[in-house]
Amino acid sequence: MQTITTVAELRRALADAHRADKRVGLVPTMGYLHDGHLALIEASRAQCDVTVVSIFVNPTQFGPREDLSTYPRDFQRDEKLCRDAGVTIVFAPVSQEIYPAQFETFVEPGELAKPLCGAFRPGHFRGVATVVCKLFNMVQPDVAFFGQKDFQQCAVVRRMAIDLNLPIEIVTVPTVREADRLAMSSRNRYLSEEDRGQALAISRGLFAAAEAFGLGERNVDKLVAIAKRHLETVDQLQYLELVDGDTLKPASSPLHRPAALCVAAYVGSTRLIDNVILQPTP
Ligand code: PAF
Repeated sequence: MQTITTVAELRRALADAHRADKRVGLVPTMGYLHDGHLALIEASRAQCDVTVVSIFVNPTQFGPREDLSTYPRDFQRDEKLCRDAGVTIVFAPVSQEIYPAQFETFVEPGELAKPLCGAFRPGHFRGVATVVCKLFNMVQPDVAFFGQKDFQQCAVVRRMAIDLNLPIEIVTVPTVREADRLAMSSRNRYLSEEDRGQALAISRGLFAAAEAFGLGERNVDKLVAIAKRHLETVDQLQYLELVDGDTLKPASSPLHRPAALCVAAYVGSTRLIDNVILQPTP
């Protein structure tokens, strides 16, 4: 495995793979890797000849009062996990490599970036789309892998790839959960034991709604209400919405198209997101 910190070196390292028409997979991350990331790496290794993992805590996707400075970092551990997982290249650029002096060109996503997290984190998806677009240009992968936990991010990135004619397949990999069904996230390390108990209400609510859906419930308000009953105990529920799986606009009753029940909540000072996909069978 090679660890690379500059774009020039990255291009040199990938030149042969591109020339030989090898299938290159990219797993973009902000580090502090967990089993969710390892599932993305595994998916890439299964489908690609070369797997690049980028590790970059992207400042432009954090708001001024968010956790950029305290975001968990452990590069040595990440490197070891990547090596053990069979990654070909770890790309870990310093900030100036991604955002050179006088940087001023951003990718501005449209409607998909407005609801859900977009409503509470202004500029977040602009930062995500910009850095992902830049990573795509640097690595020039054939396929890129994202976790379903970041459902809206997947939708924004998929739209960007179509709109900007980026010849890259976007693969969404199912959310990996802890044994107690808490969705894996680098931010879980912020949770105290007490927080953790409270955080479980999130997946409990989502799975209760999914179960009702499985038993035939198709009314949007009722499905949301079922999830909400469990979420009463979290410190601050930011949103709980059932949205159309493609447009992210509010889903309508009776549900007849794929939809996502999405939640964001604060447990203590930690913001957690999660979702379940509800897929009506024709
Ligand atoms: O999902 C993440 O970790 C980040 O949003 C991403 C895609 C690596 C962009 O910084």
